[in-house]
Amino acid sequence: MAASERTPLLTVEELSLSVVRHGEERRILSGVSLDCAPGEFVALVGESGSGKSMTLRTVVGLTPRGSRLSGSVRLGDIDLVTASKAQIGEVRKKRAAMIFQDPRAHINPYQTIGGFMCEALRVNRGMSRSDASATAARLLDEVGLFDPEAQLHKHPHELSGGMLQRVMIASALASEPELLLADEPTTALDVTTQAEIIAILQDLRASRGLAIVLVTHDLDLAAGSCDRISVMRYGEIVEQAEARELWRNSQHPYTQALLAAMPARLAKSPAQRPQGQS
Ligand SMILES: Nc1ncnc2c1ncn2[C@@H]1O[C@H](COP(=O)(O)OP(=O)(O)OP(=O)(O)O)[C@@H](O)[C@H]1O
Ligand SMILES: [Mg+2]
Repeated sequence: MAASERTPLLTVEELSLSVVRHGEERRILSGVSLDCAPGEFVALVGESGSGKSMTLRTVVGLTPRGSRLSGSVRLGDIDLVTASKAQIGEVRKKRAAMIFQDPRAHINPYQTIGGFMCEALRVNRGMSRSDASATAARLLDEVGLFDPEAQLHKHPHELSGGMLQRVMIASALASEPELLLADEPTTALDVTTQAEIIAILQDLRASRGLAIVLVTHDLDLAAGSCDRISVMRYGEIVEQAEARELWRNSQHPYTQALLAAMPARLAKSPAQRPQGQS
């Protein structure tokens, strides 16, 4: 997408976040800025504890108690830093959805897949039981789960991790969001399944025009699948660039160290790196 065509849906500007506990203030994010336009797939990469999840959580109002925020997080015309609880609730219900690393932690093991998905469709979209069931099956089909009607009757333990992550993506789509926040959605999966999940996200940004922010530790994965990458360290963005440019010509020593540590990079020259690999 040419820079001139981009009108960001999500714009994070100079976001800082501190948490005050027992009278002590601890800075977690410092001046984070990033954006994501409809149809764009951007990555937030960095080591553990660098603030990637906290950045995503701020977008959907899931900051810890005692948080102090400054800067802005705009989704269209709403600033989530100053928005009311009701506005944030609306954003979470209708405009932005989040998926996580471990789908099993986010689904009741005693509920069927259909029960889980239909509950959200009935509560959030006021659908009848039969419409919710048909919509759930259509969404499972959209994320490539074979025999979707049969899957609706299964329990989580009957599905593999990859299948369950597809269910979580389908369920995130239930609210017809404009923005999808994916927090390490492939970290717990084997390499082949990882690639399948990333391919689904890429299809969705094209077919639905979804804006997608992917959080990952894996710079190789981000470079091979995303349009742009922001590298985070100690709560700050240290470098931000087009994925290909970052791979070829990173400017920050931290990014360079991350790149140098990647086994995949030793095997491939920059010219061989895919762009928009699926
Ligand atoms: N609920 C919380 N209260 C206070 N501090 C928190 C809370 N959650 C996270 N933190 C702190 O905020 C910092 C950033 O955490 P965050 O979870 O965003 O890191 P991350 O980059 O997502 O790491 P990982 O790759 O391990 O998931 C860490 O120092 C963490 O300890
Ligand atoms: Mg995290």
